[in-house]
Amino acid sequence: MTVEHLTFRVAPGGALTGRIRVPGDKSISHRSIMFGSLADGVTHISGFLEGEDSLNTLRAFRAMGVDIDGPHAGRITINGVGVDGLKAPAGDVYLGNSGTSMRLMAGLLAGQEFDSTLSGDTSLSRRPMARVTNPLALMGARIDTAEKGTAPLHIKGGSALKAIDYTLPMASAQVKSCVLLAGLYAQGRTCVTEPAPTRDHTERMLRGFGYDVRREGNTICLDGGGRLAATDVDVPADISSAAFFLVGASIATGSDLVVEHVGMNPTRTGVIDILRLMGADLTVANEREVGGEPVADIRVRAARLKGIRIPEALVPLAIDEFPVLFVAAACADGETVLTGAEELRVKESDRIQVMADGLQLLGIDAVPTPDGMIIQGGPMRGGRVHAREDHRIAMAFSMAALVADGAVIIDDCANVNTSFPNYVGLASGVGLQIEASE
Ligand code: S3P
Repeated sequence: MTVEHLTFRVAPGGALTGRIRVPGDKSISHRSIMFGSLADGVTHISGFLEGEDSLNTLRAFRAMGVDIDGPHAGRITINGVGVDGLKAPAGDVYLGNSGTSMRLMAGLLAGQEFDSTLSGDTSLSRRPMARVTNPLALMGARIDTAEKGTAPLHIKGGSALKAIDYTLPMASAQVKSCVLLAGLYAQGRTCVTEPAPTRDHTERMLRGFGYDVRREGNTICLDGGGRLAATDVDVPADISSAAFFLVGASIATGSDLVVEHVGMNPTRTGVIDILRLMGADLTVANEREVGGEPVADIRVRAARLKGIRIPEALVPLAIDEFPVLFVAAACADGETVLTGAEELRVKESDRIQVMADGLQLLGIDAVPTPDGMIIQGGPMRGGRVHAREDHRIAMAFSMAALVADGAVIIDDCANVNTSFPNYVGLASGVGLQIEASE
């Protein structure tokens, strides 16, 4: 369970050394529960992320009658009920902080016979849901939202869904996945066209469960009415969690760190490309494939970083890594400019504003723009910043302490547990001088 108030205190200086394996990939963990539940047969999962977000997905499927054993040290066994086997949950399905759970489940639940209500915490209840309810309405779903198109979502069961051809108005894997999952229940062929490549775990995992998903150019299609066959899922370590250490070891003099078993799906590796453009010293070794996803170990040594103009094509491929990439930019020589990243304003917090506010407090010249930020690298001061209950903001600022001239204190860090359980333990094991207090 999350603690209401959690503060990180990170002493300045130090280096990151040794080896670390960060927790399982959040996106893949969510999908493993969803597809394992809807499959015919028994699915075994290993490496599952035992963070609050993916646990909320697990609880939701249990509440809909699926027999799920675990997690036991990342291992889960699911007795799938088949695409038509979910049962009406007894009350509202509470999804905490998790946008992925809500947006993907909206698509799945639109195709069920029963009514359901999806709710979340204050952050999730502020985030835009019309981006999923609009295409679902085109498919014939009936969903009521709060006034501003936000959660809770009241989903009417028993709607006969029809397939659509949908062009995403923004590069969002969650919206793409939502429409494809509703498409499983729709009559005909559902196609989604994305304006730029976004993470493709839904397509890969559906294929792993034996479902025919076709991609042609930027368009992904599937036919409704098929079934999923149980399989085993080995979840790699989350590159979005690895990113904190890739940046931390790059900026802290004397660092030499290996991050093990990192998921290297090409729709997720924008952080590596961006850091390399900035001059980071990253070596990728031991590349292999695990359960349909590429995996590797990444060695990172401290390097002098330089400011860059971040290519817009890399933005969707690094969308969750910008909080910590802003810290890298603050430590680089010269100016870094990010554009085309307005989606950052509707994440767990407004990540452009919250990061600019915190960096300014630490003495950095960081100017927020509507769709990005302009950062001049410079000396980092110690200070007290606010994570605004956003897990990735909290972890990003903890890495800033490695180069600050005084302690960095970060308020509102409890949600680190949504994606990175035991962050404090694992980070201190490789040299971050971090303590948490309630
Ligand atoms: C996710 C997609 C991304 C990402 C989120 C997880 C997913 O969101 O930010 O953390 O698992 O599909 P968007 O699709 O809204 O960009």
